[in-house]
Amino acid sequence: MKSFFWGLCALILCFNLQAQESYQLIPKPAKLTPVPGKFLFQKNTVITLSTQDESFNAVATMLKDQISLSSGLNLAIKSSSASSKGVVFVQNASLGDEAYRLNISTKKIEIQAKSGKGAFYALQTLFQLMPAQIYSNVTSSYELTALACQIEDAPRFSYRGMMLDVGRYYFPVSFIKRFLDLMAVYKLNTFHWHLTEDQGWRIEIKKYPLLTSVSSVRKETMVGHYRDQKFDNKPYGGFYTQDEIKEVIAYASKKFITIIPEIEMPGHSQAVLAAYPELGCNPDKIYQVATKWGISEDVLCPREETFTFMENVLTEVMALFPGQYIHIGGDECPKKQWKESRFCQDLIKKLGLKDEHELQSYFIRRIDKFVTSKGKKLLGWDEILEGGLSPNAMVMSWRGTKGGIEAAKQNHDVVMSPNSFFYLDYYQADPKTQPLAIGGNLTLAKSYSFEPDLPELTAEEAKHIVGIQANVWTEYISTPAYAEYMTFPRALALSEISWSPKQPKDYDDFLRRVKGILPGMDALKINYCPVGLK
Ligand code: ACM
Repeated sequence: MKSFFWGLCALILCFNLQAQESYQLIPKPAKLTPVPGKFLFQKNTVITLSTQDESFNAVATMLKDQISLSSGLNLAIKSSSASSKGVVFVQNASLGDEAYRLNISTKKIEIQAKSGKGAFYALQTLFQLMPAQIYSNVTSSYELTALACQIEDAPRFSYRGMMLDVGRYYFPVSFIKRFLDLMAVYKLNTFHWHLTEDQGWRIEIKKYPLLTSVSSVRKETMVGHYRDQKFDNKPYGGFYTQDEIKEVIAYASKKFITIIPEIEMPGHSQAVLAAYPELGCNPDKIYQVATKWGISEDVLCPREETFTFMENVLTEVMALFPGQYIHIGGDECPKKQWKESRFCQDLIKKLGLKDEHELQSYFIRRIDKFVTSKGKKLLGWDEILEGGLSPNAMVMSWRGTKGGIEAAKQNHDVVMSPNSFFYLDYYQADPKTQPLAIGGNLTLAKSYSFEPDLPELTAEEAKHIVGIQANVWTEYISTPAYAEYMTFPRALALSEISWSPKQPKDYDDFLRRVKGILPGMDALKINYCPVGLK
């Protein structure tokens, strides 16, 4: 009897160890119970919609389409109150918005969610439990299975973001869609589209056509190291029409991704001044769209005409983007021109301000008031905190976590995007082995080590940390392939920290799972950095 007991224990232990090896999921789900066996998809497998909620249809169709594309198997989708086999979508109103349950046995795959959104995340998990070929867009014959298990899952944070800078380099709509595709695979739900920069304005604004005909084109581009000061002598430009923006927004919404547009002000605005010099402090100056990297001293002047201009721009932007947040930058605004400007100095006196820093706060507060009056919320880099904000404004902490901590203590919601953990333009391996990057040293292990539950915050203050974001700044990233290389695998650390429950950091386990999903990443043709993975 005793030996039977120990034998059984050994068998269970062995199964669990094996299970640990085979469930290779990123992000790690909140709760996974291994179940022996696999579900096998066959010709006659039916996808059953056991819910009246229309939002599940699109997700069932995504499953059907991906199976059809990768394997040629054409599964039927049917509506029925219940089914004891096949794939069944069930509405469970008690679950959170993005939560899901995924129960896979040898007979049945049941997906429970409140709506299509949770079902969509269940689908991403299901794909990781299937052979990597499921991601392929080339049809091949393979055994379509899903590892049996029971999963209960929900995200830790509601904001799981990636930023792409399209100002330094323009990335075509096709790549923006691919970026969204890849974000969705790893359950990221917010795309921060950095649309304007000193080096290029990339969004069509109908009222100000020079923003696209002039501000979107620079006469040449710095190449190589900044210290070399070399230029390519080739004009460079590109922008998104409003129709393209709408197309991307619609595409993102199918993947349950919200897009936050960023329109930089009052700094990082040299490209605007190239077309509309009257918005600068030296209207007689010949401004040009910046051709080199760094922080430009050519900034917007806080004149009434400037506010009218930016409010008109934001009005068009807000009409396009349905999300609640509008990012207005607010970072890195040198004060030299404001110090030298008679207009600015008179304004400081007239408003009773202490200095140019308070003038910047005045600028941000006015824009904040405007955005808020239109029913939207302001988001900005942590510099915006310096002069007081409307209560619903959100702060993006980039200079470490300090700004975010301060903002949370002032009851503002915060997105943590500390440069030392999530600036994906930094080198991820020994620079000698890597293509040219801006600098820094940010390995996958370092990104993974970030813990947003900060000891400086009380439990109440910590509730203001709504999520995390990684940023792909593109001064040294001129192609989609290189952008992907810098994004992956570090975006997987972002995925895990922002989705999975707080857990003791176990880099070895994380790395094992990253390696486990490499076949899937290969099938998706992700151009990831292989250092330390192969
Ligand atoms: C930033 O990196 N200037 C937000």
